[in-house]
This record gives sequence, C-alpha cells and structure tokens, in this order.
Amino acid sequence: MYLPIPTCMMIFLIFIYSCNKSSSGNSSSTTGTSSSDTAYNTLYIPPTLSGTSFNLTLSKSSKQFFKTGSSTATYGYNGQNFWGPTLIMNKGDNVQMNVTNGLTDTTTVHWHGFHIPAKMDGGPHQKIAPSTTWSPNFLIMNNASTYWYHPHLHQKTFEQLTMGAGGFIIVKDPVEAALNLPRKYGTDDIPLVLTSRRFNSDNSFDITTHAYGDYALVNGTINAQISLPKQYVRFRILNAETERAYNLGFSDNRTFYVIGNDGGLLSTPVAVTRLVMSVGERYEILVNLGNDAVGSSLSLKAYNSNQSFGFPGAEPGTTGEFGSLLNNVDFQLLKINVTTSIASAVTNIPTTLVSNTYWKSSDVTNSITTAINGGQGGSAFYFDNNFYNYTTINQTIPLNAIVNWTFSGGSIFGHSVHIHDVQFNIVSRSTGAIAPYETGWKDTYFIHLGETVSVVAKFSDFSDTTWPFMYHCHFPNHEDGGLMGQFIVK
Ligand code: C2O
Ligand code: CU
Repeated sequence: MYLPIPTCMMIFLIFIYSCNKSSSGNSSSTTGTSSSDTAYNTLYIPPTLSGTSFNLTLSKSSKQFFKTGSSTATYGYNGQNFWGPTLIMNKGDNVQMNVTNGLTDTTTVHWHGFHIPAKMDGGPHQKIAPSTTWSPNFLIMNNASTYWYHPHLHQKTFEQLTMGAGGFIIVKDPVEAALNLPRKYGTDDIPLVLTSRRFNSDNSFDITTHAYGDYALVNGTINAQISLPKQYVRFRILNAETERAYNLGFSDNRTFYVIGNDGGLLSTPVAVTRLVMSVGERYEILVNLGNDAVGSSLSLKAYNSNQSFGFPGAEPGTTGEFGSLLNNVDFQLLKINVTTSIASAVTNIPTTLVSNTYWKSSDVTNSITTAINGGQGGSAFYFDNNFYNYTTINQTIPLNAIVNWTFSGGSIFGHSVHIHDVQFNIVSRSTGAIAPYETGWKDTYFIHLGETVSVVAKFSDFSDTTWPFMYHCHFPNHEDGGLMGQFIVK
C-alpha cells in the first residue's frame, strides 16, 4: 500500500539530514548492538587533580566534535579542549586554588555548591583579569558529593560556559567512604555532564543566546558510548545545559537508584525509572548491570517527548531562539556496552546511606519571598521588578538565621533556582509533592511554570559586610539577562 509522505514532512527530513553533518545524529533511532559501533565515540572521562593545592588555567582550545570537517573553537582548563579536569577534594582539608586566566577576556570561577566565604566564592565580584591569577583558599566543609566549577562573570557566563569552561569537583568524606559504593573513577564511578550545542556551518559553536543546542554532548562527546562492568555502577550526573531539563531513564525502563543529590547522599536510596534534572542540579545514581549479558548494550536516554509547556526543551520548534532538533523528542545520551565485572565489584547496594536531619518549617527564624517576573514576549526576566545590579544588595540575612526562602516562578516559563553559600532542603511545592529523590540537601532546584517553592537553609559561619553571595536562575542566558540578585550575611 502506498503511503504518501506529506511535503512538510519531506522538507523536515531533508532538514534533519542536512543538519546531521558527518556525525550519525542523536535521534532515538541510534540503537546499535555491536560493542564497538563506529557510529559512536568513546565517552571522554576528564582527568583528575587531587591534593590540597589546585592550579587551573583557562585558555582557548579547539575540539574535533565531528568525524570529518573543521574542529570547533572552544575553551578549556589546563589544556583540556572542552570541560576541565575533575578536582577531587576531602572534607576537612584546607585547599589552595590558583586560577589563571589565559583568555583575552575577564573571567571568574565559582565553586558551585560550596559553603565558603563570599570573597572566595568566585561570583561576579571576584574578577580575574586576563593574564592574572586569583588565589582563594578555603576549608572544605561540604559533605561528600558532586559539585562543579564554572565561570560566573555577569553577562559572560553564557558565552564562557558555552565555549566549554567548567569542571566537576568530587568531595569525599569518611561517612561516604564507609559505604560499599562504586568509587573507581572512570571504571564504575562515572561523571556525566549533560549539555547540547548548536553548530554553525563551519562547525563553530553558535554562541548567540538561544536556549537549546541541536547535538547532545555527554562529557563533550557526541554519540557517546562506554564499556561498563557487569555489576552496580555509579553515575554522577550534572545538567550543564542552557535551559534544557532532562527526564532521564534507561532504554529498557529498568529501575535505578538515586543515592545522592546536590549536597550529599540521601538517607536511603530512592528507586525510580525516571529522574528529572534541571540546569545546575547534580544527582548520583546506581544502576545494576549485574543481570546483563556480557556483550549486551543499553542506553541512557532523555525521555523529553510529550512534556508540558514550561518543561525546558518541550517546545515543538526545531529552529530559532527556542527551537532545537532535540526538543520534544526522546534522544539517546550514552550507549552502555556491558563487559565483565571487575575485582571487588559492588553487587548490592546499602539499604541506608547517611543520617540527614533536614530543617523543618518550625526551625525558621526569618523569611524571604522572591518573585520571578519579566520575560514577556521573550524579553529578559528579573527578580522583584529589578534587573541584577552589581552595587545593589537585594537581601541582608542575619548570621545564623534559619531562613524560609520562597520563590514564585511567574507565569511565563519554568526556571532553575540556585542560592549560593548554603545547602537547603525543599519544604513545599505548590504544584504538589516533593519527589522523594529531591528530599536531600540541595543548592539548585527546578521551579515549574507558575509554581511557588519554599526551601529552608541556615546561613552560618561566613558573615561579610562587603562581599555578597548570589542567588539566580541557573539558565545562564536568564542569569546574564538580569535574573540574579545578591545577599549579604551579617
Ligand atoms: Cu553554578 Cu551562581 O552558579
Ligand atoms: Cu530562568
């Protein structure tokens, strides 16, 4: 029977084909079975730096993203060509950081999630001029978890992040170390930074401030695959997108276990088949490959089709400011090829993890409410009717206050709310229940279109009447546009 293809569909197919360049594309149709499928590229695993003294130099670089054609101009730390080394630190250590700016543009480096003094925080005020070195030092007070570092210069964050500046920080502590969890970096403990890019016809990044890329990048790798041992493996996942959220799952819909989020391990593992991650959030998950045959494969996917409006990346268009080839579709992120297990494989997971005592509404001493507004017709967003201003202190918080901080999301779109200095817990969401996996210590959360969310945090240790901390939407285009404020703790 003859099934006519409508003309519009043919144009769409030709468009997809012409946008695929020399890579094999990202669509959910890429389901190879061979363990070394040449359509795939080996997942890049960033090198590590550890100890108590860390030297980072940001410079221009270039990376070959596609199998043929030109390389892409990028930024990277320490000679990496996209994304930087993973810094491994121990809770309780005093660390000395030396960050050298090898660009011709000013930058900053923020230690996302860390509880450190404001002047060490690397926000927009801690500028690093070209060819200079910034040398903060601080005590690591955070729990074992996955954090990250990235540029935070106002109105340059989108551009510098898009060019590839950023990296993971893994904090270790004795509580986490006592648990039987996978922790062989790159073998059964795998960092995954999820993002996407749009490319110009010469393969350069499109760094106009649109919301979504067309090619999924996992650790900077297009069409990534990895060989993993037949046992429990751990992924430390970061959403480092501009706006896109990820509804993560595995291709056979298997159950996996969320063990930690932004600021540490959960009290108990949470079994899920889907996990929603907004920009800036981190989750640690365990997935059991112990029942998979050696030589078999599965994939980690974004199940982003059929989300409602306000879920970033649910927009239907394929082009323009809010369109993308990856919008409103399910797409593959990582092909996993199962290999033989390693010595001392983790074959089951602890039923309890750590003992967390979260803040309750009855602990609260102070309250702040912040409204997201603006954004009409694609214009910039702002908080409480004010665009970000370097010299305006928007909130003053007494040292040791336990604050209920309520954000209202406004009527235009969803956002990703991040507060510096603290780890908080979410105490209410106006749209319904708090997902069990987001009950832990958080520094970033998704606020749905029209939603009101309250979190509670204690602002301890670091008072400073000069240097502020930031709070902002973690969509770098929104942040650069002015959806950021600053607070002083005193
Ligand atoms: Cu990840 Cu204010 O930043
Ligand atoms: Cu936003």
